[in-house]
Amino acid sequence: MKLIIQNIQELIQTESEKMDFKAGDKMSKLATLKNAFLVIEEDRILDFGPMSDLHQINVSDQDQVIDASGKLVFPTWCDSHTHLVYAASRESEFVDRINGLSYEEIAQRGGGILNSAKRLESASEDELFESASKRLAELIALGTGAVEMKSGYGLSLESELKILRVVKRLKANSSATIKASFLGAHAFPGKYKSNKELYIKEIIEEMIPAVQEEELADYIDVFCETNYFSPEQMDEILEAGIAAGLRPKVHVNQFNAIGGVQIAVKHNALSVDHLEIMRPEDIYSLKGTSTMPTALPSCSFFLGIPYAPGKEMIQAGLPLAIASDYNPGSTPSGNMNFVVSLACIRMGLTPEQAINASTINSAYAMGVEKELGTIAKGKKANVFITDEIPSYSYLPYSFGKPVINTVILNGKIVHQNGLPLM
Ligand code: NIG
Ligand code: FE
Repeated sequence: MKLIIQNIQELIQTESEKMDFKAGDKMSKLATLKNAFLVIEEDRILDFGPMSDLHQINVSDQDQVIDASGKLVFPTWCDSHTHLVYAASRESEFVDRINGLSYEEIAQRGGGILNSAKRLESASEDELFESASKRLAELIALGTGAVEMKSGYGLSLESELKILRVVKRLKANSSATIKASFLGAHAFPGKYKSNKELYIKEIIEEMIPAVQEEELADYIDVFCETNYFSPEQMDEILEAGIAAGLRPKVHVNQFNAIGGVQIAVKHNALSVDHLEIMRPEDIYSLKGTSTMPTALPSCSFFLGIPYAPGKEMIQAGLPLAIASDYNPGSTPSGNMNFVVSLACIRMGLTPEQAINASTINSAYAMGVEKELGTIAKGKKANVFITDEIPSYSYLPYSFGKPVINTVILNGKIVHQNGLPLM
């Protein structure tokens, strides 16, 4: 049985030549096909083309046909940076910030990441699985088909493994494509405040081997920041992660530029994320590498901190990905439509650049670019159909307004007209 979507007003991000990501000027180009069809067989894209070629497709009575007149079809968003598994929201810190405290001040008073770690310690694996499954279903309804998820609210062997086991269960139970990153180096737990080396030793000698043993992670992450992990400490942790088969994918340059980009590049990181504060040498260090710079505009929006200089990075010839950073502290939202809007409205990206950043480039940033991120024959059939909208620029323009009508993952309709079908 095939699923045929016909009369598509515009099919977005069609692959014209094979590429893993788009950089520099190429980011301004978005290949599309007007008045198009898309054929899905099993979980794959079988074919696509102009409606005038649809007669070449052998349609049987068994096949399901969807009419997409007036509607657009996109590859689903790839959200390459989230902390989706957590125990509790942190709106009291949000109120503290409104009343004048900074993110760093709240963290120094025991809030922030340590607050989430305390809450997570007493949550069971089942409770975490339930709450994360709900969040994931919400993201899918918003057009996201692939999600990277980090640990990092555990900060002890037991709790870090608990989070990653939840991610493993989500991988096995969800129709979304999921990647896991081990982020034991997210913050120093209180008891290690005066002996930070001991915590690093625990990460390297106990946590990484246990994560490797249970095959719980694809990547290794470190929060490289003043008062968190120094570039030297990150260097040490990444080396141990790489030895255990985990490619780096890291948090750098969120509040301060302290040399994290250079250490990440030295270790061939898959992505460097945040980048709100970039020195010219940080941009320069990324040139010609296979590391994807990744901006998290909804984190900047929520914390009121600078936006990553995405336009400058693209002008310098770099690629750029965007992701949500969904987490209870700095970004309590995983809405990629809003992320795309913010990239346009606040970072000055064109809709073409923002859509490339949230599809092909963010697919690369989580290692799924061979399977997802573009409309290409043989790729996984993860697409969404919009409501009737005038053009693809309408999506970032109409910020905050849901425009997604149908979500198809692995060739199956999982969400339609606001209703989950699974
Ligand atoms: O990516 N910056 C580090 N980690 C998260 C926030 C963690 C938290 O506040 O809970 C981020 O923004
Ligand atoms: Fe993050």
